Amino acid sequence: MDKIRIVGGNALEGIIPISGAKNAALPLMIASLLSEERLILENVPRLADVALLQRILGNHGVNITTNGKRAGDDPFAGQTLELDARVIVDTTAPYDLVSRMRASFWVLGPLLARIGRARVSLPGGCAIGTRPVDFHLDALRALGADIEIDAGYVVASAPRGLRGGRVVFPKVSVGATHTALMAATLAEGETVLENAAREPEVTDLAECLIKMGAKIEGLDTSTLRITGVSRLRGARHSVQPDRIEAGTYAMATAMVGGDVMLKGARADLLENALDVLRQTGVQIDSSDEGIRVRGTGNGIQPVDVTTAPYPGFPTDLQAQFMALMTRAGGSSRITETIFENRFMHVQELARLGARIHLDGDTATVEGVERLTGAPVMATDLRASVSLVIAGLAAEGETLVQRVYHLDRGFEKLEEKLSRCGAVIERISN
Ligand code: EPZ
Repeated sequence: MDKIRIVGGNALEGIIPISGAKNAALPLMIASLLSEERLILENVPRLADVALLQRILGNHGVNITTNGKRAGDDPFAGQTLELDARVIVDTTAPYDLVSRMRASFWVLGPLLARIGRARVSLPGGCAIGTRPVDFHLDALRALGADIEIDAGYVVASAPRGLRGGRVVFPKVSVGATHTALMAATLAEGETVLENAAREPEVTDLAECLIKMGAKIEGLDTSTLRITGVSRLRGARHSVQPDRIEAGTYAMATAMVGGDVMLKGARADLLENALDVLRQTGVQIDSSDEGIRVRGTGNGIQPVDVTTAPYPGFPTDLQAQFMALMTRAGGSSRITETIFENRFMHVQELARLGARIHLDGDTATVEGVERLTGAPVMATDLRASVSLVIAGLAAEGETLVQRVYHLDRGFEKLEEKLSRCGAVIERISN
């Protein structure tokens, strides 16, 4: 298995191009199931999760063409996917695929809305928590679906089509909002989604659905009103820049110091995290070009954070922020409120010399003078990248194993960082 080798200590100087957002691209690709016409998605990141979802959609009959690269093209530019779901050949999403990527469960809503039936494997738990799907199922039931669980599969049907309904989510859920939103676009009548997720990825999906002919009001708010239409058409849509990738490189720069332009990043999608970063002592300026981060890597101020649904501090940046706090000049408290088990990076950061005390959902981080390189591994994407950030700041060599987690969500990670002066390389076995 591949490893990433890092020799820490260098500041980051230069430009990091920010890719299209993984967590926007995935539901956008799934939205292609809603229409018989072609959906063209631009700025899609080249990631393992995207490739896997291509396979999963292909299984349902979606024809996907990828525009190849031409000589002279920007090597960091996103790809364009053309998704043609004219004929759905199979409404089953099997266990061996859904268990490899939870987001593929979201095919349930569009398949049910368009075809009237779907059989989708329950995704099961994962490294960061139990992650149930009850909100998804309750929302679809509120739209008139008949749902049973049979041998590990959700078997859903709506032979006469879905009808509008009122859904009040008990807790903010990005995925359940995607499911209900996509399903409601083709349901008869009006649907109201209350306590809906306001994450920018939901808005990106809603904007694309509107281009496809959906009638949606309340974008960026926690109440979405959808008036169902009988069919959706094709559209062209560009995936928004990845706010989590941008936040990750901003934290790396804050930790090791330097001057980096996160090209294409949008500060308006990341305000809370950027405010927190400013409090740690880095300078952040945003412009049409992107977000510029400048710091010395010294005198990092400790700041307490609590993760929360958007516009709060994102859980997907919690591990990276913890890495930064390991070198702060004092103690900070990091509270995780979204997932119950999202602290796997704690033990691994400790291997680099970090001092972190865990108590329930809160980690207390005592900043240390220096970290020292070591072999480490993590069991999820964001935890893995937190180890990369810590490795960039650590003295000596850090070997990050289980690189496949990083490949799920960070496009050209080593290239982007080494272009800015980091000593980082992939060792293929
Ligand atoms: C999305 O996961 C993201 N995944 C996650 O990013 C992200 O951490 C999460 O939203 C929160 O922002 C993608 O977009 C592909 P949720 P999702 O439903 O939709 C509970 C990454 O690293 N819940 O918003 O699955 C759930 O257990 C990934 O890129 C229920 O109880 O998350 C959690 O506590 C990891 N029942 C909370 O809600 C349900 O039916 C929020 O989860 C659904 C969720």
